[in-house]
Parts: sequence; C-alpha cells; structure tokens
Amino acid sequence: MIAMPARRALISGITGQDGSYLAEWLLGKGYEVHGVVRRVAIEDPEHRLTRLDPIRGQIKLHAASLESYASIHQVVAQVMPDECYHLAAQSFVSYSFDDEFSTLNANINGTHYLLAAVKNIVPGCRFYFAGSSEMFGKADEVPQNERTRFHPRSTYGISKVAGFDLTRNYREAYGMHASSGILFNHESPRRGFEFVTRKITAGVARIAADKSKELRLGNLDAKRDWGHAREYVQAMWLMLQQAEPDDYVIATGATHTVREFAELAFAHAGLDYRDYVAPDPDLFRPAEVNILQGDASKARKKLGWEHRIGFETLVREMVEADCRALGVEPRARASAG
Ligand code: NAP
Ligand code: GDD
Repeated sequence: MIAMPARRALISGITGQDGSYLAEWLLGKGYEVHGVVRRVAIEDPEHRLTRLDPIRGQIKLHAASLESYASIHQVVAQVMPDECYHLAAQSFVSYSFDDEFSTLNANINGTHYLLAAVKNIVPGCRFYFAGSSEMFGKADEVPQNERTRFHPRSTYGISKVAGFDLTRNYREAYGMHASSGILFNHESPRRGFEFVTRKITAGVARIAADKSKELRLGNLDAKRDWGHAREYVQAMWLMLQQAEPDDYVIATGATHTVREFAELAFAHAGLDYRDYVAPDPDLFRPAEVNILQGDASKARKKLGWEHRIGFETLVREMVEADCRALGVEPRARASAG
C-alpha cells in the first residue's frame, strides 16, 4: 500500500499563544507544519521562539514579513500548503490606540497579502482567518452570534472587520475555501504578559514570591467571555475540515469581570486582591467595548465543538504555572494564609 503524503499546514503567527498550540495540535494529527516568522525570531530563538521549544525540531520556520507581499508570496510558493492558518497580527487592543497606522497596515494588508498569495499559487488551499469578538465592539445585543452587527471600537477591531470582509470576499468572488473564526478571548499560561489575565496571574506570582507589592490595573468592571486557548485552536482546525467554508463564533457563553478574575487568582495564592490591586486611570482605554459574551451554538451544531475548560480551572492553571516559574507553591501558600 502506498502511504499518503502528510498534509501540509502553514501557520502565520506560529510564535504566538495560539500558533504554538495549533502547531502542536496539527503535529498530533500527522500534518507537516510550517510557520511564518519574522526574521528576528530566527536570529534570536531563545527569546522569541520559547513557546515552540517542545516542538522546535518538528516544524519548519520561514522568515517573511506581513508588510511585504513578495516575502509572503515566496513562502506560500515554497510550502504549497493544503491548509493555511492566518494568526499573525498586532493583537494588543490597547496598543492599537497608540499606533493606529501600523495596526491597520499589518493586520489589513498582511491578511490581504496572504489571501492573494494563496489564491494565486494554491487556490485549493483552505484558509483560516483569526477574527475576533472585538469586531462586535459596541454590540447591540448580548450574547453575540454570527448575525450580530459589527461596531468595532478600536483600530484593532476595525482591522479585524476588514480582514473578515476580505476573507468572505475571497470566498464569494474566487470560490476559495476561506473561513473566519470569531473567537472570544482565550487565555493560557502561554498568554502574552500585556493581556490582563496574564498580567494578573504573573502579578500574583510576583507578589507571592515577595518580588512585588502591588498590581496596577485599569477597568476592573470590564467583562469578557474567557476560554482556554488549547481548546480554541481545535475549533480553527475543525472549520477547515468542513465541506463548505463558513464563519463561526467560538466562545464559552459565560462572562466575568476583570475584578472576578483578579479575586479568584489572588485567592488561589491565599491573598486578597483588595490588598494589592491599585487602580490606574492611565490603563483605561479611550473607548471600551460592551459586554462580550458569545453564542457558540452554530459551532456546537455544525463543528461539534464545545468548550470543556471552565473559568476557575483556567485561572488556577495560569496562577499555578506563573507561581511555579518563580518557585512558589500557590496551594501551600493558600493553606498557610
Ligand atoms: P499573540 O500571542 O499576540 O501572537 C501574535 C503573533 O503574530 C505572533 O506570532 C507575532 O510574532 C505575530 N506578528 C505580529 N505582528 C507581526 C508582523 N508584523 N509580522 C509577522 N508576524 C507578526 O496572539 P494570539 O493570542 O496567539 O492570537 C492569534 C490571533 O488571533 C491574532 O490574530 C489575534 O488578533 C487573534 N485573536 C486572539 C484572541 C485571543 O483571545 N487570544 C481572540 C480573538 C482573536 P512575534 O512573535 O514575532 O511578535
Ligand atoms: N491589558 C490590560 N491591562 N487590560 C486591562 C487592564 C490592564 O492593566 N486593566 C483592565 N483591563 C481590561 C481592558 O480594559 C479590557 O476591557 C479587558 O481588561 C481585557 O483586556 P485584554 O486582556 O488586553 O484583552 P482584550 O479583550 O482587549 O483583547 C484580547 O481579546 C480579543 C478578543 O475579544 C486580545 O487577545 C485580542 O487580540 C482579541 O481579539
């Protein structure tokens, strides 16, 4: 019997939280996994490729820039992927207020370049676009589903709406198997330190290790629908296994405030968040989104996807990972306190 060649997947943003989990998931499924990275990552692997440490020997990395069509074209032509997952983006909403122009340039043009390269070189390749609940922004209904009107409240959100529309247009105009996931917030011990969940769990660990005395936070009343990244990347893959391309909301359906996250995270280390969290008006955003709460019933029905990891388990996993990294045992501290 002749063995089937492995399916080839190309991931942009492979060095990020989601890229690293997705690469592991695809390797587990027998894919040949390729990643697009910035040149600096290849030159400085110790700092920039840490999330990929466990699988470095099993993936192939290609240097390219989201700003350059020529470089993207070259990688797609080299890899000739069967599936392309476009995760690379300036993904920090706060920063998009400071640098609107580079957020729009990288996120909109980068998506357009990758879609165009795939269409020109491997039109049969299945394409995933990393859309976001930030596209709903000032949503006029709760919970939000695939039919909820978009009203983005940051250039980040605007760039994701543009990427979503580009992806839909390539599907409709050129018949590409191009799908968008409208993913609500998802976190993990691999989350970047600038996002509020990781900022809190890393802050808890530093306080528990007596390396810090306070944690400055912005809007504690903001609400998010937080899930676990490890489960959310499986939904991306499922979307590309469907006979027809489509768009799907991926969410837990439950929301919590930043305050609740902080309360639980500190409590897990035997600490009271009110003793350590200091409000910082500079960390409030010029425009906030409304309550983000997703209705993932379409994904449940059509993809058979559903989240299993709940809010408390997520917070605990993140606190424990950050505490361990600093040599503190969160549970021991909780029982001593
Ligand atoms: P992340 O950890 O911030 O990773 C972003 C990735 O994009 C990194 O690999 C980064 O590379 C790469 N990147 C950024 N700017 C680039 C540029 N100009 N050229 C090339 N690569 C660039 O983000 P994530 O949480 O994994 O999210 C993955 C995607 O899903 C993003 O598009 C994000 O906007 C979207 N999303 C995330 C969530 C969430 O809650 N996590 C929810 C909805 C949508 P470097 O390592 O070189 O910086
Ligand atoms: N980052 C941060 N830092 N956020 C804070 C802080 C703080 O000190 N204090 C309060 N917040 C509030 C923010 O105002 C926001 O309402 C909420 O915490 C979550 O902020 P982030 O963790 O930065 O995430 P985000 O919701 O803005 O964006 C993330 O989720 C999107 C999906 O909805 C990112 O992963 C985006 O890339 C993603 O699209």
